[in-house]
Amino acid sequence: MNILILGSGGREHSLAWATLQNPKCDKLIVAPGNAGIAKIADCADLDIMNGAEIIAFCEENSIDFIIVGPEAPLAAGVADDLRGAGFLVFGPSAAAAQLEASKAFTKEICDACNAPTAGYAHFTNHEDACAYVTTHPAPLVIKADGLAAGKGVIIAMTDEEASAAVDEMFDGAFGAAGAEVVIEEFMEGEEASFFVLCDGENILPIGTAQDHKRVGDGDTGPNTGGMGAYSPAPILTEEIAQKALNEIIRPTMAEMTKRGTPYQGVLYAGLMIKDGQPRLVEFNARFGDPECQVLMMRLGAQAFDLMHATAEGRLSDMRVNWAEDHAVTVVMAAKGYPGTYQKGSEIRGLDTLPEDSKNMTFHAGTSVSDGTFIATGGRVLNVTARGNSLMEAKDRAYAMVDQINWPEGFCRRDIGWRALD
Ligand code: AMP
Ligand code: GLY
Repeated sequence: MNILILGSGGREHSLAWATLQNPKCDKLIVAPGNAGIAKIADCADLDIMNGAEIIAFCEENSIDFIIVGPEAPLAAGVADDLRGAGFLVFGPSAAAAQLEASKAFTKEICDACNAPTAGYAHFTNHEDACAYVTTHPAPLVIKADGLAAGKGVIIAMTDEEASAAVDEMFDGAFGAAGAEVVIEEFMEGEEASFFVLCDGENILPIGTAQDHKRVGDGDTGPNTGGMGAYSPAPILTEEIAQKALNEIIRPTMAEMTKRGTPYQGVLYAGLMIKDGQPRLVEFNARFGDPECQVLMMRLGAQAFDLMHATAEGRLSDMRVNWAEDHAVTVVMAAKGYPGTYQKGSEIRGLDTLPEDSKNMTFHAGTSVSDGTFIATGGRVLNVTARGNSLMEAKDRAYAMVDQINWPEGFCRRDIGWRALD
């Protein structure tokens, strides 16, 4: 098969890496890709938000199957455009991707199907939201309704912070995403991510992970897109996973089907777990980044068969073959991230790193200049390893990190600490 993956991050590098291990893959193109992806696949400079441009490319290149990585093209209906043109696509329709693209939509679905989640109120005007925060004491969680690249959530621990957050949202700090605001009850507990595939009818769990959202060791400092992840997440026991499936995921999928907008693709459920009970924090309509990197490290070539079966509605025939293994990914970011950082510094030492079924450095934001890798983003590399234990995987990943010569970069040194403690 000729396969096209849309996206340019570490997530897409890991999807490409797993896909290439599958004998069904004859040709792989990633658009737009990055310098790490270019080492293993062809890259095409396409605008992944432009359905017509991608359709023309797929026709010219006899593409059989398209995997959509990020949420923005899904929310914009690119998967619908491609399916409308007759292509087989992994990824939900714009209507189904509302589960990520609108927090108010997801809350309303949870209400309709009784899925456990934080209590909330939804506001379209500043005055009502202000009145609400003055009558509901902190802590509160203030969320821009729309996609805000992971930045549209403010956890207000004091009443003053809550008022300031509401003002900021309605002042346009998050653009159109903040024109509507959801205010939630603050949930305590430990967070973990649960990944399932859905083909519109069947649901197949494909793994659990935990990421580290804060920039600093010990989970301190500002939130980021994720500084590292590990899989499996021991907090998400089999019993809690079953609860999440029965109380949250199956009812949500059934509700989507009932509304005529069945969900097809990977559904990423962010869960808050306390006293053995999972509650929904959020859904994402795509793989997590960097959670995808640890899932792909563990699934290997079968990941492609699973995604293909999802798109063809054959999930009821599929099983996941799990090894009793663990994977860790450490994010290396440019110093200053998630604030301002410099682009263009040189990264050395990558060429001598092992690249095999247990060790892989996925690129998230790199380019090549005169044969040298250059950092072009905030999160730049995802140093990923697999082992028989979490400790073994972690040691392997940091052994690779220590061989990378990039003075302008940094990483957390404690990925996995909650599970190892
Ligand atoms: P979201 O984009 O909705 O996932 O929110 C980003 C992060 O904010 C989550 O991963 C949680 O760490 C935190 N968060 C969101 N909603 C809540 C809530 N209701 N209670 C506690 N923490 C939350
Ligand atoms: N790592 C969090 C996310 O992908 O949303």
